[in-house]
Amino acid sequence: MSPLFRGQIMKLKDKVALVTGSARGIGFAIAQRYTEEGAKVVLADINAEAVRDAAARVGHGAIGVALDVTQQASIDAAIAQTVATFGRLDILVNNAGVFDLAPILDITRESYHKVFAVNVEGLLFTLQAAAQQMVRQGTGGRIINFSSQAGRRGEALVGIYCASKAAVLSLTQSAGLDLIRYGIRVNGIAPGVVDTPMWDHVDALFARYENRPVGEKKRLVGEAVPYGRMGRPEDYPGAAVFLASDDAEYIVAQTLNVDGGNWMS
Ligand SMILES: NC(=O)c1ccc[n+]([C@@H]2O[C@H](COP(=O)([O-])OP(=O)(O)OC[C@H]3O[C@@H](n4cnc5c(N)ncnc54)[C@H](O)[C@@H]3O)[C@@H](O)[C@H]2O)c1
Repeated sequence: MSPLFRGQIMKLKDKVALVTGSARGIGFAIAQRYTEEGAKVVLADINAEAVRDAAARVGHGAIGVALDVTQQASIDAAIAQTVATFGRLDILVNNAGVFDLAPILDITRESYHKVFAVNVEGLLFTLQAAAQQMVRQGTGGRIINFSSQAGRRGEALVGIYCASKAAVLSLTQSAGLDLIRYGIRVNGIAPGVVDTPMWDHVDALFARYENRPVGEKKRLVGEAVPYGRMGRPEDYPGAAVFLASDDAEYIVAQTLNVDGGNWMS
C-alpha cells in the first residue's frame, strides 16, 4: 500500500533531508513541504535561535540545528547531527545564500569574500560533506543547489552575486556529472525574484544606488515578471519535491528555472 497524505502518494516518505538557510524564506517553505511529503527534516541556519523556532513551527519531528556554511567544522557537525538523529542523509537542499550589490568601480574585497564564502565555497563544501555521507551509505542521494536567474546573465550593479550564482550553475553541472556514478543526483533551481527578507535587502540597496524610493524596485521587478507578480516562497517547494523524488530519476546536472517566465534556457 502506498503511503498517503491528503489522498495523494507521499513523494519523500522516510527520506532524511537537510535544508540549509531554512530559518525563513524559500528554505523554510521547502522544509515545511518536505515534512508533509513524509521526509524527516533537519532545518539548518546560521541564525540558531530562529531555526529552532522554525523547526518547532514545521513540526512532524523536524529538528533545527545551527549551521554556518562558511565553517567546515559547522558543516561536519550538522551532517553528524542529522545522522545521529535520523540515522542517515538522503537529500541535501543547498539553499543558504546572501546578496550584495555595488557598481563595479565600488566593489570591495570584503563584499566579494562574504558573498563567495556563502554562495560558492559554503555551497560546495556542504555538497561535498553530504555527498561523502551518501557515498558511505551506498544508496545514492539527491542534492539541490540554489542558483538564480542572476547566474544566467550579468547585471551592471550585481556583479559579485551574479558571478557567485553562475559558479553555482557550473558546480551543479560538474558535481552532477561526477556524483551520478554513486547514484547521487545533483540538480539546481534558479529562482527569479522572490518576495522574501532577502529582497527587502536587495530593494534597499537598489534604492541607495539607483536613487529610488524604498519599495519601487521591488514593485517594478514584480510587474515585469511574465506571470504577473514576484515569486513567493511557496512557489518553490513543488520543484524542490520533484527534483528530490523518484519522478526526477533521469534528470542529472540540470538547473530548473522557477521564475514565472523571466528566463528561458
Ligand atoms: N529571494 C530572491 O529573489 C532569490 C532569487 C534568486 C535566488 N535566490 C536564492 O534562493 C536562496 C534562498 O533565498 P531567500 O530569498 O529565501 O533568502 P533569505 O535571505 O530570506 O534566507 C536565507 C537564509 O540563509 C541563511 N544564511 C545566510 N548565511 C548563512 C550561512 N553562512 N550559513 C547558513 N545559513 C545562512 C539566513 O540566515 C537566512 O535564514 C538563496 O540561495 C538565494 O540566493 C533568491
